[in-house]
Amino acid sequence: MKTWRMGSGDPQRNAQGRLCHLLTLEGLRDVEIIELLDTAASFLDLGSRTVKKIPLLRGRTIVNLFYENSTRTRSTFELAAKRLSADVLNMAIASSSVNKGETLLDTVDNLLAMQVDGFILRHSEAGAAHLLARHLGEQAWVVNAGDGQHAHPTQALLDLFTIRHLVGPIHERVVLILGDVLHSRVARSLIQGLSILGCPQIRVLGPRTLVPPELVHLGVHVFQDDRAALEGVDVLYALRMQKERMDVQPLPSLEEYHRRFGLTPERIRLAAPGAVILHPGPMNRGVELTSELADGPQALILDQVTHGLALRMAVLARLAGGSG
Ligand code: CP
Repeated sequence: MKTWRMGSGDPQRNAQGRLCHLLTLEGLRDVEIIELLDTAASFLDLGSRTVKKIPLLRGRTIVNLFYENSTRTRSTFELAAKRLSADVLNMAIASSSVNKGETLLDTVDNLLAMQVDGFILRHSEAGAAHLLARHLGEQAWVVNAGDGQHAHPTQALLDLFTIRHLVGPIHERVVLILGDVLHSRVARSLIQGLSILGCPQIRVLGPRTLVPPELVHLGVHVFQDDRAALEGVDVLYALRMQKERMDVQPLPSLEEYHRRFGLTPERIRLAAPGAVILHPGPMNRGVELTSELADGPQALILDQVTHGLALRMAVLARLAGGSG
C-alpha cells in the first residue's frame, strides 16, 4: 500500500539509520512500531503504583512547544516526561516573544542555548516538525505532536496500541474511519500505521467533500453508504469536524452530517458484534457521535488517553536513548 509522501530523504533518521526524531509513521518498519507498542505496554501499570516515577530520563530536559491548542497531547507528554524523571519546560507561546515576531527556529535556538535535550512540537503549518528536525540534526530530538493537516504520529501509535491491547491483532481487524478525513492529520497517520501493521481492510466513510479522492489509490476502501461501510467492522474511529481548518463550509449543516454519518446506537448495530468506538478527542457530542455512545461500554475513548501517556513515555524513552 502506498502512503502520503512529504519531501525527500528521511529526516527522522541519522546517517546510521537510527530513529533520532519522530515526525511521521511514514517509513517506519513494523518491528519499530511493535517495539514502541511493547515498551508502552511495559509502562502501563506505572500509573497505578503509589510512586509513579522511574529514573530513566533523570537529568534530561524536554521542551513542550505548542503553537496550537491541546489538552491530551500536551498534558500526556508533560506527564510522560515527568514519570520518566525528566525536567519539563512548558513554553507558554501566548506570552512568549513569538508574539513579538520571533520565528520558530530563533525560538528553538534560544532554548537550545539553555542546553535542552528535546522538543515536542505542535504547529499549525504542515512540515514544521520536519523543518525543525532538519535544523537541529542530532543536536536535539523532535517529536511531531501534530503539524497542520499532515501528521500526528503519537496519536496514531496510541490508537494502534489501544486496538492491539483491547480489541485484538491489527492484522485481523477491519477498521472504519468516519468523518472529516480531508482535514485530519490523525487519519493520515492512522492509515499509515494500520497499513504498516497489516490491517486487512481500512475503510473510510464520510461526505464526498471531506474524503480525499487519492485515498482509493492507497488501498483504502471509500464508502458513502453507511450500511455497506459498517458491515463487519470491528473498530469505528470517529473524527471531529475540523472547522478551524475549513476555508469553505463543506456541509449544509452539522445536523445533516449527524443524520447521515454520525455514530448512533442504531447505526453501530450494523457493525460486527463487540465493535468498539475510538475518537482522538476533543469530541463534538451530538455531531460525530451521540453522548450515549461516547459514555457507553463500547467507547474506548478514555482508554486511548491512558494509553497515550504510556505510549508517549515509550517514545521519549526511545528518542532519549533509554530504550531501543
Ligand atoms: N487528540 C489530540 O491531539 O488532542 P489534543 O488536541 O487535546 O492534544
